[in-house]
Amino acid sequence: MTPMAEQTPCDDPLGYDELPYPSGPYPYSHCDHLATVARLFGIPSTDVRQCRVLEIGCADGANLIPMALTLPGSQFVGIDLSRRQVQAGRELIAELELGNVQLHQQDLTTYAGEAAKFDYIIAHGVYSWTTLRVRDSLLRLIRDCLAPRGVGLVSYNVLPGWQQRQALREWLLRATAGSGGTAARLGKARQRMAGLRDALHRHGNAAQQHLARTIAQLENCSDGYLRHDLLEDTNQPCHVVDFVDHAAAHGLRFLAEADVASMVGAGLPAELAGVAQRLGGSLVAREQLLDVLTERAFRQSLLCHADCAPSTQLDVTAVRGAYVVSSFERQTGGGAESDTVAYVSPSGMRLRGDDPVLVGALDSLQRAWPGGAWFDQLLPAESVGEVRESQADTLAATLLAAFVERAVELRSVALPLAATVEEYPRASPLARLQARRSEVVTNLRHDIVRLAAPARELLPYLDGTRDRRALADLCRAPTAEGDPQQHLAALLDGLRRRALLLG
Ligand SMILES: C[S@@+](CC[C@H](N)C(=O)[O-])C[C@H]1O[C@@H](n2cnc3c(N)ncnc32)[C@H](O)[C@@H]1O
Repeated sequence: MTPMAEQTPCDDPLGYDELPYPSGPYPYSHCDHLATVARLFGIPSTDVRQCRVLEIGCADGANLIPMALTLPGSQFVGIDLSRRQVQAGRELIAELELGNVQLHQQDLTTYAGEAAKFDYIIAHGVYSWTTLRVRDSLLRLIRDCLAPRGVGLVSYNVLPGWQQRQALREWLLRATAGSGGTAARLGKARQRMAGLRDALHRHGNAAQQHLARTIAQLENCSDGYLRHDLLEDTNQPCHVVDFVDHAAAHGLRFLAEADVASMVGAGLPAELAGVAQRLGGSLVAREQLLDVLTERAFRQSLLCHADCAPSTQLDVTAVRGAYVVSSFERQTGGGAESDTVAYVSPSGMRLRGDDPVLVGALDSLQRAWPGGAWFDQLLPAESVGEVRESQADTLAATLLAAFVERAVELRSVALPLAATVEEYPRASPLARLQARRSEVVTNLRHDIVRLAAPARELLPYLDGTRDRRALADLCRAPTAEGDPQQHLAALLDGLRRRALLLG
């Protein structure tokens, strides 16, 4: 990568040096997810094992660093205006000895990119939180730096769902103006919110109870989030149609929503989801109507170059090249139905177990959790020729239907997870470091996991140099009579199931 001149120290105009943003891993922004969704819409996205990723407004790299760790053949670049956040990320990169990720303290409005284009560009939490001038620069930068088949992700607050927060925000901005420093302002905002929530909760009608719940959610947020979301000088939600028009003015096209299930109204009653499909009109007009129906407040939209021609329908053949992870659990009926088998997902999707190919696939996926399997591995080993083709078509269609119900994940690379606990267990090096400092760690699925003692205390020792006997000596059983090996086995299996152990 070409070295780049650093920005001169700035006076922290946005306050992220004074109070950093509580950044983290965002699974929908992972380059693997971007690659998969693009393929489902007919764009032959670049192999993420050898790709280039740019994150604009990367904060301390909490989203980018875990990707770099699990994709060592790819290159990752992050830019952010905040010196303190970038410095924190660089220290973590040095501790992890990662050579494929660089963070630069850099204003996006003056960033010229690098000689080579990027296959994936992420701008999470930047668009709504900056002025129109910066938003223009952001979209221009994405267009200029994105490879021809590249995919960008931009997240933003959307109307009408954000309207209630907007009203609250305007009230709080006025109520806390001139309160002194950041801490005093946050204290006053929290006090005002608590007072209003309490009154609404006790005396409000149904709509006001809804507002009370929104306030309660906000009160649970960290100071960093409140400062930079609710009390930020600029926080401009927009309608999805306006975002899409803005992107088009910069030569970019709306490809899909990162949460593809939301595009068919997953979670809505079937009648309402049907209304959106019937009355919506164009793809973007339908998205707009879905925002009204779901009171959606936040989007993570995927963009491609305007001259790309994505399909408007999901391509079922893309499922046949995917790595599948399923959260379906097998359930056997009781009473008169004791012979019937069904599979139920946490999202509420139910599949009947009367197709032996589907039963075989879902049983293997349940055994593989939290890992998964390549689509081909899910077909019966003995089937060949036309029979195999027909089984593949049926299974792919079912898995695609489950994907748009958020019941299975489709990926473009296998997860690097341990299928069983090994004699010398090895955990994610990032999570090992994080566990020393915090109860919140990032797992190998790019999710946040909260760990309590004793699992949190054990995690840093899982560097592959200690066998189970040595580890059992380190973590005493909770009672004097407890078997230390059994106690350790339960802890290790818990960590494995939370996607923290490397395969
Ligand atoms: C709301 S935070 C989001 C951080 C992170 N991407 C996330 O979603 O958790 C916005 C980030 O954008 C950065 N930012 C704002 N304006 C910027 C600019 N002009 N150039 C580079 N970074 C900028 C801020 O420093 C901050 O880290």
